[in-house]
Amino acid sequence: MRLYKKAGNTLQILSFPSEDVEKGSYLLIEDLRAEKSMIAQVVDIQFANVPGVMEEFLREISAEDSMEGEDFDPLDVSSHILYIQDARILVCKIHGTLENGVLRFDGSWLPSRTHSRVRRLSVKRLVEMADVGRQLPIHIGETMDGSRLTIDASALDGKLNIITGKKGTGKSHFSKLLVLGLIDYGATVVVLDLNGEYVNLGLARDGSRNRYHERIMVLKPRENFKVALSQIDLSIILRILIHSLDLPGSSAREFRRIWRFLKEKGRLTLHDLGEAIKNWNCNVHVRDALYSRYHALLRSELFTDNLAEAVFLERLLGGMKRGGALIVDLSDTSPSDRRIVVEYMLGKIQEMLSQWRVRAVFLFAEEAHLYLRETYWDDIITRMRHFGLFTTFITNQPNTIRENIYRQADNIFLFNFVNDHDLEAISRAARTDAETVISIVRDLPPHHCLILGEAVKDFPIVVKVRPIDVQTMGHTRLFFDVERLSKAPRALINGSKALSR
Ligand SMILES: Nc1ncnc2c1ncn2[C@@H]1O[C@H](COP(=O)(O)OP(=O)(O)OP(=O)(O)O)[C@@H](O)[C@H]1O
Ligand SMILES: [Mg+2]
Repeated sequence: MRLYKKAGNTLQILSFPSEDVEKGSYLLIEDLRAEKSMIAQVVDIQFANVPGVMEEFLREISAEDSMEGEDFDPLDVSSHILYIQDARILVCKIHGTLENGVLRFDGSWLPSRTHSRVRRLSVKRLVEMADVGRQLPIHIGETMDGSRLTIDASALDGKLNIITGKKGTGKSHFSKLLVLGLIDYGATVVVLDLNGEYVNLGLARDGSRNRYHERIMVLKPRENFKVALSQIDLSIILRILIHSLDLPGSSAREFRRIWRFLKEKGRLTLHDLGEAIKNWNCNVHVRDALYSRYHALLRSELFTDNLAEAVFLERLLGGMKRGGALIVDLSDTSPSDRRIVVEYMLGKIQEMLSQWRVRAVFLFAEEAHLYLRETYWDDIITRMRHFGLFTTFITNQPNTIRENIYRQADNIFLFNFVNDHDLEAISRAARTDAETVISIVRDLPPHHCLILGEAVKDFPIVVKVRPIDVQTMGHTRLFFDVERLSKAPRALINGSKALSR
């Protein structure tokens, strides 16, 4: 390999096909005189534009048709020509300089073209040099050159993360791996599980209990997730009314009075709340507005007067001090109930964090645009982060996450995308250049992920995510199930064949 050109932070390197380089590999350009090296990552592999190659090809094609006989090539010139015809240009992005074993993130220096040697830098060595994943390692999978990749749990601590990729590429699987990794280090995790696919994290694939079993708690609205009305803080119920149920401000003021009145009398029950709203002396529109919201609260079945069936989040999360995950299964919950549940959860978590009842919460939110209100996005990345709520968004529609959130993200885990529109949305991520992202992500096979950001010290690394022995339940229910069809009565299948004839 030979250094050929540099423009901005892009290098072009000449290479022959026999040299084993793939997109995403790292190269070390060692300047033998300056005793410095440059680290660059291959983001694209193209044919070298050698003058006259096209003419040569055309000549060969026309000769193939018209000439017969044997090639006479005593000096073996043709093999050299073939070599040149197959020469490649590796388009690389500069990621830093290495001087006396010290890594610096600058690319201002230019290595010599004649005195430098280019060779492949193994990800294993790169990771060692950059000190990736040493302190609290979470084993993620294997790199392209077959070495084991771990990332640091502390690289997720206090951070905003995004996991995105097209459908079925392994995002939820990866996020489960992170959840379990965090639990291992004693973190408290809350998962907003839209499809009910995290509920069996405590079971191994064969159905037996795994070592996480005691640490996973699943809450399902309408089933085991009910909260005692009398225990809720007025501010949280107001947030639900205003943000999830669009209650106008004037009606909210009236509701506050009703709530205080009932609280003073010690009659904060669902029945008494309904009666009080019905008989409250106020504008009829306000009363109607309050009454319809009251019914929405009742329909959600999230609230109860029975303390015995109520869950107390502070106790649940408080009990997870040595690591645990609370899975909120939103799979059978209607969109409006989902918003109520999420508003309640976030309100409660915020309350507990501000009172230091939990130290920090790692929140994993699948397809958050389906239940997170507009104002939360900014809140989560600014205010809530300082309180100790660290979010990971998981989505297969990258344009549902606003651009400023990508810019603020500390880690982005990218799975395959082919759609230009999607690629454009993710390439706006500030921590890397668009070319690297678009070029590498387009070719990622399923279960492979390009990691960007803090977790890999800003060296984009492709990893094959390892399997995990838990029941993942990420399967989509299918009609044309192979097993089901093989058990179907023969006559049925034959009959359908007959019909098609
Ligand atoms: N690294 C992996 N090793 C083994 N199996 C995997 C891996 N990643 C994903 N899978 C399996 O592939 C299937 C799809 O994965 P997953 O549900 O994580 O995809 P997804 O990107 O979340 O899809 P969707 O966009 O539909 O949510 C699942 O059955 C999962 O168990
Ligand atoms: Mg998923």
